[in-house]
Amino acid sequence: CNGDGCQLLLNSKEEEEEGNAAVQLCDHELITSTQHGLLNPCSQRGRLQGHRAHDHDLEQDGFSKNPFFHGIIAEVPEQHKTKEGHTKIGYALYFYAYSSWSGRAIYMEDLYVMPEFRGKGVGKALMSKVAQLGLAAGCHQLNFAVLDWNKPSMDFYLSQGCFDITDTMGYHCLRCEGEALKHLAQL
Ligand SMILES: CC(C)(COP(=O)(O)OP(=O)(O)OC[C@H]1O[C@@H](n2cnc3c(N)ncnc32)[C@H](O)[C@@H]1OP(=O)(O)O)[C@@H](O)C(=O)NCCC(=O)NCCS
Repeated sequence: CNGDGCQLLLNSKEEEEEGNAAVQLCDHELITSTQHGLLNPCSQRGRLQGHRAHDHDLEQDGFSKNPFFHGIIAEVPEQHKTKEGHTKIGYALYFYAYSSWSGRAIYMEDLYVMPEFRGKGVGKALMSKVAQLGLAAGCHQLNFAVLDWNKPSMDFYLSQGCFDITDTMGYHCLRCEGEALKHLAQL
């Protein structure tokens, strides 16, 4: 992307069906990348309070017959690898959602680029690919959430034409988890 020698790999089913040779690599590498620190620190921070997905969960949930999520990895050639020797330098994690009001949607759960590769168009390329896959699947919206302290990311999203639905439409993100979730399920 942007002439930086970066390529995007996917774990999506469509790619598998097309027999894309890069897919198997990505299936495996998304897991090992999380083991080697590519996992978004923002996600880790958010998970400190509650259940944290482990590598086993990620493997099962992302690479089983009916995956709960899909992933795209941004990879640079060997000559641009990080000081620690990583060539997988960013990723996007997404899944499909549905609204009775607006129909098909794609939800981007994570977007992450290693600090030393930021500002080179990698984040934009990853998000663009998610948008492209969403449109190809008949989605009308790309949804995601940003923590209120994450101003650089908010500015990045706003610069890409996204808007804040909390400000403009009054939406709040709500969650039920832990004991409250178990209690709710037993009513
Ligand atoms: C947010 C993030 C993914 C952006 O990735 P990136 O590779 O640095 O961004 P890019 O280089 O692709 O930026 C592309 C465009 O966004 C703009 N942009 C990037 N950061 C910006 C900022 N802080 N403010 C305003 N514009 C910004 C660039 O100017 C560029 O504009 P263009 O459309 O004219 O080309 C990256 O900073 C990141 O991984 N942050 C940490 C993880 C995180 O917080 N993720 C989001 C969780 S919700």
